[in-house]
Amino acid sequence: MIVKTTIPSARSALAKTGTRRVLVPTMGGLHQGHRALIEKARRVAGGSGTVIVSIFVNPTQFGPTEDFSKYPRPFDEDLALCKAAGANLIFAPEPGSMYLPDFSVFVLEESLSRSLCGLSRPGHFRGVCTVVAKLFNILQPDCAIFGEKDWQQLAILRKMVSDLNFPVKILAHPTVRESDGLALSSRNVYLSAEEREAAPAIFAILKNVSALSLTPHQLARKAREQLQRLPGARLDYLEVVDAETLQPAKDRKRAGRLATAVFFGKTRLIDNVPVPKLSLTKKTKS
Ligand code: PAJ
Repeated sequence: MIVKTTIPSARSALAKTGTRRVLVPTMGGLHQGHRALIEKARRVAGGSGTVIVSIFVNPTQFGPTEDFSKYPRPFDEDLALCKAAGANLIFAPEPGSMYLPDFSVFVLEESLSRSLCGLSRPGHFRGVCTVVAKLFNILQPDCAIFGEKDWQQLAILRKMVSDLNFPVKILAHPTVRESDGLALSSRNVYLSAEEREAAPAIFAILKNVSALSLTPHQLARKAREQLQRLPGARLDYLEVVDAETLQPAKDRKRAGRLATAVFFGKTRLIDNVPVPKLSLTKKTKS
């Protein structure tokens, strides 16, 4: 496994590799969720392909009051995890080389970004789209893998690739969870012992509610009521949206997604589950 910290050195290392390049973009602080993505990349690339992991805490996707400076950066542990998972090349650029002082071109998705996390984190998806577009241009992967844990990010990046004709295939990996159901996240390390104990209830609520034969409106109401009762938690949002367009789901005719963001203290956790299609023949009560 080789590590490159500049754009020209990554490009020249990649010029010597074969064609099947699979990229896993990350911000580091890697855990078993990231590891599953890298292992999938290894399988997709096959023995002769190249698995690239980018590690870059992207400043443009953090708001002014968010955790950019204290975001975990355990670089040596991250490298060990990448190596064990089968990565060939790590791209870990300095922020200054990705964003020169006169940087002024951004990628703006103007529909799917307007709901869910896009409302509570203005500018976040502009930063995500811009850095992923840059990574695609720098590393020229055939394929890139993203986690379903960040459902909105995945949907927006699929749209970016489609609308801007990037020759990159986007693959998704299901959310990897702790044994108690909590979605793995680099931010889980911020949780206190009490918060960590309460946090698995987020997934339990989403899973139980999404299994009910109710309208999207009824599902949302039920899940909100239950999340608001969680000790130490403050609900940021809970919505049932169309799984692809992320518009509010009005019925159960198309696949939906039940998505939430919950604060425990200053730590913001997100999670989502599928809301399957359903023909609601009988009138249901909430
Ligand atoms: P980061 O939060 O480091 O996540 C990197 C990738 O790992 C994303 O595709 C994310 O969805 C996936 N991931 C995180 N936790 C996961 C889990 N528990 N199960 C499955 N996949 C999981 O997402 C970002 O970084 C950034 O926005 C990035 C795309 C790198 C752009 O800066």
